[in-house]
Amino acid sequence: MKTRLVEAPFSETFIAQFVALSERIFQQSADRAWLDRLQWRLEKMPDVTIFVAEVDSEWIAYKAGYATHFNRYYSWLGGVAPSLRGKKIGKALMDQQHNWLQSSRFKSVETHVAQDNEAMVRLNLKSGLSIVGMFSKDGEPNFIMKKTF
Ligand SMILES: CC(C)(COP(=O)(O)OP(=O)(O)OC[C@H]1O[C@@H](n2cnc3c(N)ncnc32)[C@H](O)[C@@H]1OP(=O)(O)O)[C@@H](O)C(=O)NCCC(=O)NCCS
Repeated sequence: MKTRLVEAPFSETFIAQFVALSERIFQQSADRAWLDRLQWRLEKMPDVTIFVAEVDSEWIAYKAGYATHFNRYYSWLGGVAPSLRGKKIGKALMDQQHNWLQSSRFKSVETHVAQDNEAMVRLNLKSGLSIVGMFSKDGEPNFIMKKTF
């Protein structure tokens, strides 16, 4: 497995790979609204960083986020291809993201996660994030989780 960090601007090929893997990870087709939001985030948000894991040039996992303030980062979206879960790939990408944040100007990373997403909540806890709040997203309870560097 190889991992790499990709930063803006993102090519059309890159975005197509991001969408294709997202559809595998979340097991649903990306609709127009989702694609529009993705495109907007990739083009407009500051310091977008996407850590990609590949095997033989095929994408198997990614972890994406962006800055919300000068020194605060939001870890937005991530996942591992379903057949490759439980092999520490999610943890490896999370570690890379945190190492990169620590070596840059960021002082904290924050993320939102559905409370019933046990795998992601546990991975976040294992990676040093704590639950600092809760909110409801589309009627679904979410945790706000944060780690300070
Ligand atoms: C969450 C996700 C990224 C974890 O990736 P992964 O590569 O399978 O996880 P890892 O093998 O690196 O696991 C690291 C730790 O996370 C926790 N974890 C991972 N999967 C878990 C599961 N199914 N149940 C409980 N804890 C889990 C464990 O603490 C694990 O450490 P351990 O094996 O020593 O106990 C993966 O399940 C996934 O892609 N889920 C769907 C996408 C998603 O929900 N993304 C988050 C919203 S954007």
